[in-house]
Amino acid sequence: LRLLSGSANVALSQEVARYLGMDLGPMVRKRFADGELYIQLQESIRGCDVYLIQPTCRPVNDHLMELMIMVDACRRASARQITAVIPYYGYARADRKTAGRESITAKLAANLITQAGASRILAMDLHAAQIQGYFDIPLDHVYGSPILINYLANKQLPDIVVVSPDVGGVARARAFAKKLNDAPLAIIDKRRQAHNVAEVMNVIGDVRGKTAVLVDDMIDTAGTITEAAKILRQQGARQVYACATHAVFSPPAIERLSSGCLEEVIVTNTIPVAEADRFPQLTVLSVA
Ligand code: R5P
Repeated sequence: LRLLSGSANVALSQEVARYLGMDLGPMVRKRFADGELYIQLQESIRGCDVYLIQPTCRPVNDHLMELMIMVDACRRASARQITAVIPYYGYARADRKTAGRESITAKLAANLITQAGASRILAMDLHAAQIQGYFDIPLDHVYGSPILINYLANKQLPDIVVVSPDVGGVARARAFAKKLNDAPLAIIDKRRQAHNVAEVMNVIGDVRGKTAVLVDDMIDTAGTITEAAKILRQQGARQVYACATHAVFSPPAIERLSSGCLEEVIVTNTIPVAEADRFPQLTVLSVA
C-alpha cells in the first residue's frame, strides 16, 4: 500500500499517514515557466495499491489537473490499483442541466479522473448522491456526519431542531436528525436568484424556543447559511448552529459567518481552513 498526497490538503494527508503509521510517498512537483505542472514519483509503486489524497478545492482547476497528473503518473508506473481519495469533489454543483446549453461538470470531472486511470474513488459528502453513478468505476461514498453528530451530541444542546437550509438538502438533514436522537426537522424554502445568491422565503416546521442546527454539505459564500440563520432567529429560534462537511469559504464567507448570527459554525477539514479564515465561533473537526 502506498499513500500519496497532492498539494491541496497536505495537512490532512499527513494526518491520515500518521493514523496508518506510514510516510507519504515521495514525489517531485515542479512548475514550468508557463505554469504547466510536472510530477515524478520518487520510488517504485509497481504492483502497489496506491491511494492519492487530493480534494479538488480552490483553485479547483489546478487541483483537478494535479490529481489527474498524479493518477496518470501512477498508471504509467504500473500501480496495481489507484484509488483517488477526493475528500471534497469540486465541480459537483452542476450535476444536471437546469437550462439549455449548459455543461454537466460533475459528470465531466468524473470522466476526466476515470480517463486519467483511477480504478476506484473514495469521496466524501458528494453534493448530490447520484454523482456516485457518474463514475463507471467503484466509488465509496463516506460522510462527515458521524464526526459532526458526535461533536454535537457531546455538547448536549437542549431542544434541538435540525434544519435543512434548502429543499434539496432534506434527505441529508433527515438522516442527520435521525442519528441526533431523532430530533425534529425543519426546512427552509430557499429560492436562488443567481449562482451564489441565496434568498430565503419560508420556514417549514417549528423552531420557536429551540436550538436550531443547520446542516449542509458545504458552506461556500455562506449566503445560504447566514440567510437561513437570520430567518430562524426571526422565527424565534433560541440559538442557531451551522454544520457542514466542506468549508469552501469563498469571500465574503468569513465576514458573513462571523457577523454574529450563528452561535457556532462546525465544519471538517476536507478543505484546509487557512489561519486567516479562522474566527472565534469556528470549530474544525478532522476527518482523517
Ligand atoms: C446548495 O445546494 C448547497 O448545498 C449549499 O447550500 C450551497 O452551495 C452553499 O453556497 P453558499 O454558501 O454560497 O450560499
